[in-house]
Formats: sequence, structure tokens, C-alpha cells
Amino acid sequence: MFNRELYFKALITRTLGREFRYIPRIGSTNDLLRKTCATETLPEGTLLLTDHQTAGRGRAGRRWYSGENLNLTFSLLLYPQLSMEASGLISLMAGVAVVDGFRAGGFFQAGLKWPNDILISGRKIGGILAERFITGHGSAIIVGIGINVNEDLAQMPADLQASTTSLFSTTGKTWSREKLLAAILLAMESYDPTTAPADILKVWESYCTHAGKTVKFNRGPTMLRGLFEGLTDRGCARIRIGGKEQIFSSGEIEFDDTDN
Ligand code: BTN
Repeated sequence: MFNRELYFKALITRTLGREFRYIPRIGSTNDLLRKTCATETLPEGTLLLTDHQTAGRGRAGRRWYSGENLNLTFSLLLYPQLSMEASGLISLMAGVAVVDGFRAGGFFQAGLKWPNDILISGRKIGGILAERFITGHGSAIIVGIGINVNEDLAQMPADLQASTTSLFSTTGKTWSREKLLAAILLAMESYDPTTAPADILKVWESYCTHAGKTVKFNRGPTMLRGLFEGLTDRGCARIRIGGKEQIFSSGEIEFDDTDN
């Protein structure tokens, strides 16, 4: 079970994660946090964490699997003053903060895949689902983060084993979820998507696993192929397709083995 005392001992943020809510079992932390916002005025940085998420949601309607008591599955409430178009910066910031958090714990091999997958050697170790909505006090964003921390790959659903990994499976040791979460939140607090988005974009590009590489890009029913050139100032993908740079605010990158 997640140890609240250990977590607060490690937490040195000003705001993020200071309001901490724990629920042992829930369908989705994103859904519960949003529901709670309808009845309570929650402070910036409120964090809701569960040890057993039974109906975790991923991007594009996918499911997020997480074994009980092993991983980090949580949602964070933010009230950033950002236009709708710039909201994508929040999930980029969260991805950067997760990689920073791993690094603070001495693990340097993780990278990012646009827009917000956290990878180790091409396998997914974490994902982010950021959802914007309107509260009585303006717009809010719930940043849902799932990280495979102490998951044993062999125990995961068979269909996920080839594409997934965990910190435990990669490093062979058990990680303190409490310390890792505190480190991720501290890293996140060092970024400001409103006043200094360029800092986030710069670090994101340095962690990107496919910068300057040919990628397959899945956009709805269309599969494109092009060179991933980097990010726009709002975090959109710049992909050169057929000699022309195109800008995408959403879509799915797949690695193109023919060129990497
Ligand atoms: C993805 O990679 O598709 C995003 C996965 C996001 C999973 C997290 S786990 C905590 C939060 N609650 C959810 O239902 N989803 C997010």
C-alpha cells in the first residue's frame, strides 16, 4: 500500500501534491477527481492516487492496465492560464517531469515519444492523459499519469508484454513509489508552461526518442510517413512529409524501422 507518511517526508514542493487524496480502489483517478471538482473547490496541485485502478483510461479511448499496489496511478489538478491551443504543453511538461523524476532516482535511460508516452528502449513505461474542463472558477486540467514502477512484466496481460516495460523489469530492483512521486512533482514544479514554455519544449526535445528520425504518423484512418523535426511553440509536432513541413496537434507516432 502507498505510504502517505513516506511520501510527505520526501515531498518538498510548494504546491503540487500538497493536497493529497488517497483511495484504495477506483475505476479511474481522472474520473473521480473530475467528479470531486463538481462538488468541492480543490486547490491547485491536488493529487488523487489509487493503489488499484480498475478501469484506467488511456489516450484515444484505450485502456490503461496497472497491477495492484505496484505502480503509480494518479491524477493532478492544475489551473493553468493557457489557451486551449497551448494546453498540450501541460502533458509535455508532465512527460518531462516523469523523466526528470527517474533521473533524480538515478535512472537515465527513459525517453519520450510525442505527444506523451514515456519509453525505455522503445517499450512503454508510462503514459499521460490530460483532460481540460470548465469549473465554476475557470478552466482546469486534470493530468492523469500512469507509470509502471514495480510491475513484473510476466504478470502483465499477455497482449501488453511485448510493448511494455517497468522500472523493476528494467533495473531489477524495487523502487520507492513515494520517493519517485515526490521527485516527479518537484520536477514538474520547476517548469512554468505559462511564462516559460520554451524551457519545457527544449527539455522535451532533448528527451525525445525520435527527433530527426523518420516516423510513421497515424492520424485517424490515414497513415503518413515523414521526418520528425521537433515541436512548435505550442507543442505541436512538426513533421516533414513529402518535402513539406506539416504541423499536427494530435495523432500517434509509430517508429519506422526502415530508417532508424
Ligand atoms: C496513455 O498512455 O494512453 C495514457 C495513460 C494514462 C493513465 C493514467 S493512470 C491515472 C489516470 N487515470 C486514468 O484513468 N488514466 C490516467
